[in-house]
Amino acid sequence: MAEELKVSKIKNGTVIDHITAGMAPSVLRILGIHTGSSDTVIVAMNVKSAQIGLKDMVKVENRVLAQAAVRKIALVAPQATVNIIRDYKVAQKLKVELPTELIGIVRCPNRNCITNSSERVSSYFAVESKDPLALRCHYCEALVDGTSVDILL
Ligand code: CTP
Ligand code: ZN
Repeated sequence: MAEELKVSKIKNGTVIDHITAGMAPSVLRILGIHTGSSDTVIVAMNVKSAQIGLKDMVKVENRVLAQAAVRKIALVAPQATVNIIRDYKVAQKLKVELPTELIGIVRCPNRNCITNSSERVSSYFAVESKDPLALRCHYCEALVDGTSVDILL
């Protein structure tokens, strides 16, 4: 316990915990936190976790995540937990969860796919496996995994 990493608690906001080690930057991108952002954010990468070996963690003050953002986080960090903090207490704890189909959320890697053409066709993937991630394009059958997933913002 004495060797445990100490990171400040937050008063109000959201803690995304148990993020797959190394994936915090992808989570920040999904949350729209980028160069020049003014949000107060605490990021920890590659810290010890009793559950998953090493993990990343992102704490955002004064922000409650939209459902859409929570689903996108499931794409890059399938084991993540989202904790809503109110007045220093964990008011709500939820596991991220992917739906069985993803519409308009992931870009198809196939340049010739109809969803990348000038026709207005939304991308459409079936979730074949959640962890490790495997997505199949409904139109061209291209396969996407966790390392190559390109999330539309
Ligand atoms: N947390 C925080 N600020 C608070 C309360 C909690 O930053 N005011 C963080 C904790 O540091 C932890 C996460 O929110 O990373 C979840 O808190 P808690 O449920 O108390 O921790 P655990 O029991 O370890 O969570 P789990 O069972 O999900 O591992
Ligand atoms: Zn496709």
